[in-house]
Amino acid sequence: MQPIHELETPSVLIDLDRMERNIAAMQTRCDDAGVKFRPHIKTHKIPQIAKMQLEAGAVGIACQKVSEAQVFAEAGIHDLMIPYNVVGAAKTRKLADLAYYTRLIASLDSEHTLKGYSAAAQNMEIVLRVVIELATEMQRAGASVSDALRLAEIIDQDDHLHFGGLLIYPSMPAARPVLQEALDGLHRRGIGVDIVSGGGIGASHHLKDVPELTEIRVGTYVFNDWTTVDNGYATLDECAMTVRSTVVSAPTYNRVILDCGSKTLSSEVHNGAYGFIMEYPQARIYKLNEEHAYVDISACDEKRPEIGEIVQVVPVHTCVVTNLHDTLYGVRGDQVESTFAVAARGKVW
Ligand SMILES: Cc1ncc(COP(=O)(O)O)c(C=O)c1O
Repeated sequence: MQPIHELETPSVLIDLDRMERNIAAMQTRCDDAGVKFRPHIKTHKIPQIAKMQLEAGAVGIACQKVSEAQVFAEAGIHDLMIPYNVVGAAKTRKLADLAYYTRLIASLDSEHTLKGYSAAAQNMEIVLRVVIELATEMQRAGASVSDALRLAEIIDQDDHLHFGGLLIYPSMPAARPVLQEALDGLHRRGIGVDIVSGGGIGASHHLKDVPELTEIRVGTYVFNDWTTVDNGYATLDECAMTVRSTVVSAPTYNRVILDCGSKTLSSEVHNGAYGFIMEYPQARIYKLNEEHAYVDISACDEKRPEIGEIVQVVPVHTCVVTNLHDTLYGVRGDQVESTFAVAARGKVW
């Protein structure tokens, strides 16, 4: 145990009481809706935290990349989903290798990816479980319903692939017609569906509106951030991650500088803000350099941040902050209770 005030700034703190409450609350939300929960570990990248999520009732985890999944498999977690197109022979070889000793599901949205999975599974002499990602209004990856049905037929005929079902992100109620059309098409073709996997913190608030889902992947909820709060998906009291920072300059009456720049908070911005200062809700972090946060304090009342003062910043996007740091400090009260090494930091291939 170490008192928090002995930590250097900037340091990333995780309020353990809040994180534990977040883990329990999401599991309850999913249990109440009768939907299995598969936390997305991209938010914390820390096997100890994934184990807490599994102990709370999660059925497995989702990892965005193969290298991330390898870290968690080595830590003993063996129910893994990769909701991502894994493309290229070197990566699919690693994917098949992982699938050899874990229960793994990978997603695809094209014939190119499908062929890569099939070849890798054949080389490894395994049957790889795959799901097809459907396109949503987000217009990111994902197949149209007609392409998904064509891909499902090919998978169904492939000796080295098992058709596991459908994947969608975000699984908001607006995506329901697409899901229904795809499920109907699969049913008419006689192709069985094991899982329908949805995702997103926003979608987790609408589970009962999308009854087709059998499971959901959410990551951000474990720490929450300024974006989830501002979007109405969490409250400030549910923000477990804060960046402890020092006021290092007060060059003008209306501007102070904090020691947390883009190398600490990332460059992500939400509605013109790069973070939210807990002690000064009226202050606005309006710009970042690598090691400087520019704070407009013109809207603050008489009490204003002073040089040497320490403040807690809620980052805009927790998942990218994790990936910038070697260590997150688990705190309770005024003590550092756990030191979490970010084991999958930088595992982005
Ligand atoms: C494919 C996929 N599934 C699940 C999630 C988790 O959603 P959230 O970040 O809202 O927790 C994400 C987030 O980017 C994602 O890309």
